[in-house]
Amino acid sequence: MNKESGIHEAILAPEDLQISKAELASRHHIVVQSEGLKRVVHDALKAARSKSTILISGESGTGKELIARLMHNVSPRKTKPFVVVNCGALPETLLETELFGHEKGAFTGATFRKIGLFETAHEGTIFLDEIGEMSPTMQVKLLRVIQEGTFNRIGSAVPITVDVRVISATNKELYEEVKKKKFREDLYYRLNVIHLSIPPLRERKEDIPPLVEFFIDEFKNTIGIEDLSISDEALTLITSYHWPGNVRELENSIERAVVMGNGQEILPQDLGIQKAEIRDNHIEVGITLQQALDSFKKDFIKKTLLLTKGNRKKAAEILDIQRTYLSRLIKEYDLEV
Ligand SMILES: Nc1ncnc2c1ncn2[C@@H]1O[C@H](COP(=O)(O)OP(=O)(O)O)[C@@H](O)[C@H]1O
Ligand SMILES: [Mg+2]
Repeated sequence: MNKESGIHEAILAPEDLQISKAELASRHHIVVQSEGLKRVVHDALKAARSKSTILISGESGTGKELIARLMHNVSPRKTKPFVVVNCGALPETLLETELFGHEKGAFTGATFRKIGLFETAHEGTIFLDEIGEMSPTMQVKLLRVIQEGTFNRIGSAVPITVDVRVISATNKELYEEVKKKKFREDLYYRLNVIHLSIPPLRERKEDIPPLVEFFIDEFKNTIGIEDLSISDEALTLITSYHWPGNVRELENSIERAVVMGNGQEILPQDLGIQKAEIRDNHIEVGITLQQALDSFKKDFIKKTLLLTKGNRKKAAEILDIQRTYLSRLIKEYDLEV
């Protein structure tokens, strides 16, 4: 299947789960070019058929939810619900009623019975986003559902049994939270039977050109433009930018450029990227590590001071260091103006 264009290149998956790049893009809206993302997709497809818990880690906007949906959509559970819960968005008590539901009269204001999301997701998949934000009490309750497959609606003594596949996601180093005793170690291992780690976009720049093409296609259709190209300068700017918001930021930037541009060719100024945000990719080698670190530190402090227009108090806050320490570094690196 390896055609010249590479478009039909198969993402190797076991047996009947051979999915081509073209199918990933058209049906699952996933663009895959880099080796790093190919590996993630390959593992995701392989793991999709099982019921093992999955932990997907990656910075915000790298495609964690997209990968979770892919896993659901190619799994035997695909005709059943895929339920998304943002564990960081709700206070503890609300999260509990959302997940487990409650009986009528369970607490003041519980005027009706509420079915929780674990019940809604029965025979399907539940996607627990920002799992690292979950409170200790909720962690215990989640552990029970995962270990025993049962829970109680709030205000009920009758345990409910569900068959739910759990996929969770985190943009934190979750094991660091375990070390800090903020996340239960036993729950960590329960959630993390299979771990998928999506690299940030800046570490898989091969994905950028096909993503740009994909998003241009998508957005030009919504506003009825037939032909729209991108200038070399714009593409260079896009590939040299470091995309802290990852694919989500790129998607928004292309949308903006398609809508606000001249309708024929996307130019650098349409993208809404500040030139100052471009990271300098020039790295000198053949010097000691200490010299390299010093040069980076000097550059970094200089840029932060530029950002704060020389305000040391603000700069120290951004850098999260003491103001006196910053002053010492400024002197040491000869950054005084
Ligand atoms: N490889 C990809 N191909 C196409 N679109 C992508 C890809 N990765 C992410 N996206 C898009 O970027 C946006 C953010 O993805 P999302 O899955 O919500 O990220 P996360 O859950 O990691 O914050 C979504 O609109 C998603 O469709
Ligand atoms: Mg998300």
